[in-house]
Amino acid sequence: MNEKQMAGEKAAEFIEDGMILGLGTGSTVYYMLQELGKRVQGGLNIHGVSTSKATTNLAKSLNIPLCSINDIDGIDLTIDGADEVDGELNGIKGGGGALLYEKVVASMSSKVIWIVDSAKRVDSLGRFPLPVEVLPFGSRYLFRIFEKEGLQPAFRKKGEALFITDSGHTIIDLKVPRMEDPQKTASWLDGLTGVIEHGLFLNMADLLIVGEPEGPTVVH
Ligand code: 5RP
Repeated sequence: MNEKQMAGEKAAEFIEDGMILGLGTGSTVYYMLQELGKRVQGGLNIHGVSTSKATTNLAKSLNIPLCSINDIDGIDLTIDGADEVDGELNGIKGGGGALLYEKVVASMSSKVIWIVDSAKRVDSLGRFPLPVEVLPFGSRYLFRIFEKEGLQPAFRKKGEALFITDSGHTIIDLKVPRMEDPQKTASWLDGLTGVIEHGLFLNMADLLIVGEPEGPTVVH
């Protein structure tokens, strides 16, 4: 079994009957959803809140019941992937472009579990390009600010065209190697007009499940 599958299936063990579940996005979440689909088939009663069109489509194909985020007051548990995670369970997310909805869902959740393969664990954040979701209007101006800061910005592309998120924004990926103070970087990005959201997820995960050659490890 590959490491992503291991982590995804282990996370499904944390799902209980009656829960409102945040459903993350990505290839690791894919395995959790497969497992969840089987349990729903077996009678488990949950409702999922999706973080992307891709997850909505997959959940529907597995007959996982979904509800609208605006019809609920909170989410019991969210299970999502991550692009890299440090020892304090801070992470970079958004490799799949779903960071905005993922952060909204995570912030409404009583508990957040991240599921990753072992290659995603890092000593300090910054190896993975940091996604910044921006308003297309004025995005060139932001691009130049990032350039001046030496962050080697790159507009994310899908083929020849710009990548457009589910909420209609573009993404600029930044290189912030050996990020010494992720909170400082996050606050700076939060303060830039036109930045909708960024992929620094700090103090948001409660539990990390890592697929490893010997089996899944649960990290608190
Ligand atoms: C999508 C994400 C994903 O959770 C992240 O990119 C990890 O994906 P994968 O499990 O496919 O490696 O943040 O926006």
